[in-house]
Amino acid sequence: MSNITEHMACIFDLDGVLVDTAVYHYQAWKQLANSLGFDFTHAQNEQLKGVNRMRSLDMILNWGGIEKNEAEREELASLKNSWYVAMISKMTTDEVLPGSLELLQDLKAWGIKIALGSASKNSSLILERTGLTHFFDAIVDGNAVTTSKPDPEVFLKAAELLGAANKDCIVFEDALAGVQAAIAAGMHVVGIGEPENLPGAKLVIKDLSEITIAELSALKSQEIEKG
Ligand code: BG6
Ligand code: MG
Repeated sequence: MSNITEHMACIFDLDGVLVDTAVYHYQAWKQLANSLGFDFTHAQNEQLKGVNRMRSLDMILNWGGIEKNEAEREELASLKNSWYVAMISKMTTDEVLPGSLELLQDLKAWGIKIALGSASKNSSLILERTGLTHFFDAIVDGNAVTTSKPDPEVFLKAAELLGAANKDCIVFEDALAGVQAAIAAGMHVVGIGEPENLPGAKLVIKDLSEITIAELSALKSQEIEKG
């Protein structure tokens, strides 16, 4: 196995893969929608997975049938973010999703490089609160990219920072846009969630407790997924 893991690098999405922050995004967006006079459902929240903050706001305003100018949109996004940050500031190490810690520890023990590839601009606070920061050799988040998933920029930057070839990278993603971004980057991808929601991912697991380094080695030796 060691010669297969030798060049392997792993890139993790954050929200919904390592930690469950969707519930906080939901509460903060719902509070914003309610303050504007309409409701926001769990099903709508699902559609915002992997979508960056401003695009999420545009989708929500569209659902509520509300038009706002640029300055008002910026203000609404900051308001939502202030509520969201108040919630994630109270996160604890208990909010790390099943299997995350064990897999990160195993990867470290094997000397496999680890990066973050997230759309969130709040990733450093979340990693710090949940005690995961020290695992990462590189962090690429919403502050470091100009385009959002499904554009591959976030994963290409992560690979570059790790000094890894794209074909040696395995991306862990719970959002369809993220799976598409990984495929566009020419990387292997492990989907987290339900297979029907993540078409394109050859391997889909419920959470990170369902994967081992040996299985990652086997995945890496396969041909790259094609978009
Ligand atoms: C993604 C989440 O990881 O980050 C999205 O799945 C979220 O729901 C996006 O909108 C941006 O997050 P933030 O923390 O920058 O508002
Ligand atoms: Mg995610």
